[in-house]
Amino acid sequence: MSSRGRSFLAAVLSATLVLAPPQILLAASPQPVGAQNGMVVTAHHLASEAGVEALKSGGNAIDAAVAVGYVLAVVYPVAGNIGGGGFMTIRLKDGKTAFLDFRERAPLAATKTMYLDANGDVVKGASTNGYLAVGVPGSVMGLETAREKYGTKSRAELMAPAIKLARDGFSLEQGDVASLASGFKKLSSDKAAAAIFLKPDGKPLEIADTLKQPDLATSLEAVSKDGPDAFYKGAVADKIVDASRATGGILAKQDFEQYAVRELEPVTCSYRGYQILSSPPPSSGGIIICEILNILEGYPLSYLGQSSSATVHAMVEAMRYAFADRNAALGDPDFVKNPVSTLLDKTYAKAIRDSINPYKAGKSADVTPLGLAESNETTHYSIVDKDGNAVAVTYTLNGSFGAGVVAPGTGILLNNEMDDFTSKPGVANLYGLVQGEANAIAPKKTPLSSMSPTIVTKDGKLFMVIGSPGGARIITITLEAIINVIDHGMTIQEAIDAPRFHHQWQPDRVVMEPYALSSDTLKMLAEMGHNVQLDLGWPIWGQAAGILVGGKSLSEIEQGGGARLNGAMDSRAASGAAKGY
Ligand code: DON
Repeated sequence: MSSRGRSFLAAVLSATLVLAPPQILLAASPQPVGAQNGMVVTAHHLASEAGVEALKSGGNAIDAAVAVGYVLAVVYPVAGNIGGGGFMTIRLKDGKTAFLDFRERAPLAATKTMYLDANGDVVKGASTNGYLAVGVPGSVMGLETAREKYGTKSRAELMAPAIKLARDGFSLEQGDVASLASGFKKLSSDKAAAAIFLKPDGKPLEIADTLKQPDLATSLEAVSKDGPDAFYKGAVADKIVDASRATGGILAKQDFEQYAVRELEPVTCSYRGYQILSSPPPSSGGIIICEILNILEGYPLSYLGQSSSATVHAMVEAMRYAFADRNAALGDPDFVKNPVSTLLDKTYAKAIRDSINPYKAGKSADVTPLGLAESNETTHYSIVDKDGNAVAVTYTLNGSFGAGVVAPGTGILLNNEMDDFTSKPGVANLYGLVQGEANAIAPKKTPLSSMSPTIVTKDGKLFMVIGSPGGARIITITLEAIINVIDHGMTIQEAIDAPRFHHQWQPDRVVMEPYALSSDTLKMLAEMGHNVQLDLGWPIWGQAAGILVGGKSLSEIEQGGGARLNGAMDSRAASGAAKGY
């Protein structure tokens, strides 16, 4: 059969689903959690509970986001943090939007070649382990900026649940134990981390053990009482700087003293009548999601069918081109001129679409960013309150448990975000990203991110809140969840749970989760020239957290009568929960 014939067959099969009378097609996924007033979806059930409590006691979505951010720092040490940084996308009930960049900055003593040896080769592990990997943390300043500008409650009230959980401890469940076990080697090799996250005999903690973090409680209490100064100008910064100096790090007190949050304009674009609101540089996330959506808008994805060879081909090719742009052109906006308007331009997307062969895989080596000169662990949470304020937060230590170091006396795990920079052009980082000069290391610069806390609206009304961890795959995880809801009619839970695939330009291959594509589809893609590989690297496939407003799925929204808020925590997440009231 010709490839045209095959696409036609796939189209006919999927059209029978698409053209059926509107109904809710339930796949093998749990139902989303429905609620009328507020919804909090996070990677830890205790954090979701703290968020719901903040909402129930009169706080808004931003208050809940602050409470959740601090609780995750206690109960979800693999990624929850005050020793890392992140992004917050906000859409207020009146439609006003905001974006807070509280990501890490490079220390003042950082240099472009700091991870290279005398031969100019990248020193393995230097940008991922220990204090040299640590960027200046932003989470405390970010959460406080959000609270002061957009919240309604006191810092003490919002931080109280986190302090209590750190001081009194919490009983470990299966997901907690699995998460700590995944970091056993890293945590064992740092004395201060081992003293907190392992048993006194050095063995892993077990289910029903209580994890108490008195030093972290003290650090959090200091912030609660004195605000960010306690972290950036006080004893916490001193202890981190001392520990860094003692082990070859370059962090200085001045790095902490001058840390500032940036409030930036979120990136926006339209997709089939929906408005996407997401992260601007120093994230690549919003721009690249929009670039891919702009390319895909020209294909009838719904008609072509979910995970058909024609749909997957179009999506993979769009990913290939957009990631080439990402890796070459984007960086911290204070340091490089990002070609934002070009990358968001629908005619630019059309030019890319025109160069995609509908029957044949492109070659990444042939894809150079058009018109542009080149000079494992994060967490996402989504919240909507009773008034319709929406918050999407992705924050991170970068790799699981970050740099694997806790500054003695602070209880704070520190990030290894410096690895997100280009250590050397052409050499892949932790997430396999091959990046260029725009993302080179410089003092005070912020490494390019893929984090994409995203809010979608339709006709001026809140539609969806979505995001995920997953390194470079954050972009395609978020994208696929959006497409699964808008083009394929899935419930928010199905859209998040559906097996995923990903292409990031280099390496030139499509990776897929088990069961993402049928063997028929795989065969067709192989015939088109795609190199598709099964990837079992589970944590990297992310843990999306989403909320859909007005129904479980597009068809329920269109029919009316659905729950106001429909929360879905990724079924891949071991300890997460959507909780509403
Ligand atoms: O900002 C970024 O793009 C990365 N530091 C995110 C890392 C991540 O998602 C790890 N999670 N699996």
